[in-house]
Amino acid sequence: MTARIITVANQKGGSGKTTLAMTLAGALAGRGNRVLVVDADSQGTATQWAGAAAETAPFPATVIGLANAKGRLHQLVKPLVNDYDYVVIDCPPSVEEQASQSALLVSDVCLIPLQPTPADLWATVGAIELVEKARMVNPGLRAFGVPNRVTSTNLGKQVLDVMRENDVEFLDGKLGNRTSFQEATIRGSVPSKMGAAHRAAAAEVEAVVTELLFRLGAD
Ligand SMILES: Nc1ncnc2c1ncn2[C@@H]1O[C@H](COP(=O)(O)OP(=O)(O)OP(=O)(O)O)[C@@H](O)[C@H]1O
Ligand SMILES: [Mg+2]
Repeated sequence: MTARIITVANQKGGSGKTTLAMTLAGALAGRGNRVLVVDADSQGTATQWAGAAAETAPFPATVIGLANAKGRLHQLVKPLVNDYDYVVIDCPPSVEEQASQSALLVSDVCLIPLQPTPADLWATVGAIELVEKARMVNPGLRAFGVPNRVTSTNLGKQVLDVMRENDVEFLDGKLGNRTSFQEATIRGSVPSKMGAAHRAAAAEVEAVVTELLFRLGAD
């Protein structure tokens, strides 16, 4: 079996790309899959996240840094697909970056995390354009927005409603605004491995993964 490639991209900095990529990777690994995270961002956040893990409890997926690959990223990722069930690519913030463009050429799906604010919503235009461009070469590329840091405010709800009317398809699943996700970064872990206090965050990630696999026809 060759790995499915999931790219997490959005030009908006801090939208939750690394958080989604790492928790998704952890959840896929938790289901018995061999998972590779490709850290395509020179900030190295995913690499640092995995590096923060205790020796006795390593991060559940392998993380490699390929930030230097830039426009050649797809060439370096391709040979890796035989060794994994899923490859999750964590992209740098700007969609201008060649890395995101390159990653999408070989991806099955692009996930676009965004917070329910008007600024984040407007910023998805760039990500959608990037997906459309990649589809000229990779016509099977799927793309889903994933609401992140969702709170129960009315404004947030309104923005979510607008999002769902937008060009991009959205997952029903979402990640709430939870300290569990920040704690996971510090601990080098994922919410599902952090005990009962983090159950709500773990359940959100599981719901996103279940829905994603269902939509990809891979469950
Ligand atoms: N659902 C969430 N709940 C709480 N905090 C979150 C959530 N998602 C992200 N954060 C926090 O927001 C900050 C930015 O998140 P993250 O690093 O995942 O974004 P990013 O899109 O990868 O950023 P960059 O563009 O710099 O790569 C981090 O401090 C992270 O812990
Ligand atoms: Mg990041």
